[in-house]
Amino acid sequence: MPRQHVATHIAIIAGVCLCLLAYLSFLGSTESPAPSAQLPAQAQAAELPELPAQPHAMDVDSPDSTLVVVNKQRPLPVEYVPQDLVDADGVPLRLEAAEAYLEMVAEAAAAGVPISAVSGFRTGTEQDQLYVSYTENFGPETADSISARPGYSEHQTGLAVDIANPDGSCALEACFGESLAGSWAAANAHYYGFIVRYPAGAEHITGYAHEPWHLRYVGAEQSLSIHDAGTTMEEFAGLPAAPDYGQ
Ligand code: DAL
Ligand code: ZN
Repeated sequence: MPRQHVATHIAIIAGVCLCLLAYLSFLGSTESPAPSAQLPAQAQAAELPELPAQPHAMDVDSPDSTLVVVNKQRPLPVEYVPQDLVDADGVPLRLEAAEAYLEMVAEAAAAGVPISAVSGFRTGTEQDQLYVSYTENFGPETADSISARPGYSEHQTGLAVDIANPDGSCALEACFGESLAGSWAAANAHYYGFIVRYPAGAEHITGYAHEPWHLRYVGAEQSLSIHDAGTTMEEFAGLPAAPDYGQ
């Protein structure tokens, strides 16, 4: 065979080999998925960066929610009345809150701490009468720091209860917090689904002075979490502070 033909054959064979190699390499790239795509879904999730902490998911808007947040920025419908009110030691409370309350006071009594209830559910009209009397007695500024205006009280949810020492000592006064019933409630109410809703030093958030007698039912899981977090309900739910009515 002439030399020229041999060179041509070699060139053709080399070209065919190159094409074959290129084709095989192309097949390899399409048939072998990227290593991460072969991981099971769980392993892939584990590789994702952690999401930033979200505010606690709570239904803070529905009046019937046990986690509804009512404050100076978040009124209830003025005619709202819960449908499952029952008597709890002489005051009306929603059934779930009443059961928890009765269990709490029974255990407090067993521990030698008698507790009585002085106020539970209040209608918008009852709240109006109370607010007006505070305004007349103390002036509007003090009234707003200790009493909600009608439609803005969480007593209207049927989930709030004001407690007292049965002998009346320190009733609705700051010294209640250091009294027998007040100190027991501060140390134990969260085990029964209640929080001290207006803690000391949080008036700029809750809108109210410290009320060691005002317990709010939120359910046992949330009361433990809120207590352990050491926050107000507003902060725990990621809601804005409500120091005033914003007028
Ligand atoms: N004392 C509380 C703030 C109320 O009136 O609802
Ligand atoms: Zn109260």
